[in-house]
Amino acid sequence: MKLLLYPLPGNEARADVLAQALRGRCEVQLAGCVVHRFPDGETLVRVQPPEPDAQAVLLCSLDGADAKTVPLLMAAATLRELGAARVGLVAPYLAYMRQDRRFAPGQAVSARLYAQLLSAQFDWLLTVDPHLHRIHDLAEIYTARTAVLHAAPRLADWIRDHVERPLIVGPDGESAQWAADVAARAGAPVVVVDKQRNGDRDVASTIPDLSAWPDHRPVLLDDIISSGRTLVAVLEHLRAAGRPAAACVVVHGLFAGDALAALRAAGAPRIACADTTAAIDGVERIALDEDLAGALLELAHTAGDER
Ligand code: R5P
Repeated sequence: MKLLLYPLPGNEARADVLAQALRGRCEVQLAGCVVHRFPDGETLVRVQPPEPDAQAVLLCSLDGADAKTVPLLMAAATLRELGAARVGLVAPYLAYMRQDRRFAPGQAVSARLYAQLLSAQFDWLLTVDPHLHRIHDLAEIYTARTAVLHAAPRLADWIRDHVERPLIVGPDGESAQWAADVAARAGAPVVVVDKQRNGDRDVASTIPDLSAWPDHRPVLLDDIISSGRTLVAVLEHLRAAGRPAAACVVVHGLFAGDALAALRAAGAPRIACADTTAAIDGVERIALDEDLAGALLELAHTAGDER
């Protein structure tokens, strides 16, 4: 099986590293996907035509998904038209998973709708820790085959290497699954904060009693930093209680708007994210490429070509 890796703009470095990790394990080649934006805002996509038996793999992390999705769907559809044997997607960050139900009348259930869009064009999808909460498995909403890589082992390694006596703090109920997993792997105790979100940037938190761990250093652990306000609320409480955080560690660093500045102002000493999104100055990266390469290889080998 030959894999052709097509990085969408901004994903070229990941494609290089993945290709390097895959060489010797399968036949792999980088292929071109050029996205041109016309003055009127419409998009022209041009892909390197695939060889008939090759499997086309598009690489596109889906932070800022709205601008990326139209070119991505066009590229996938074009590769299929041009004869790719299968078309897969590696999206280390998978968008729209948090809108997983109709919270108010008339709202779109974006997670399901977005899954339908991607499933219509891709045979398979590989991603990292999607925000599964009320939806328990991607197969509930994706008809394309899916595989999920978990960043927990790498996050736990980072914490073990950088923080003495960590106390893992999950900043809300939804983070509990990630916080508990990482804590178990790092051999650390874990607590979960009670959060109430009143708006996009308006979060109120109640911190549990930490007096049972007087010598431990709080490490905030979540799956996503978006506006940063979930972590800011906890950082401020910890600082006021004289137990400042040692680090914030998350899977997906989206850093919307002033998130990074707000985290710094709230006293975040170190921030480390898995490398599922683009690098940001001042944010440490936890590499997943080896794991991603292994998961990609397995999925590409086993994904059925029934469509
Ligand atoms: C939601 O439950 C997630 O786990 C994150 O806590 C949330 O998405 C973070 O968002 P923000 O950074 O905007 O507070």
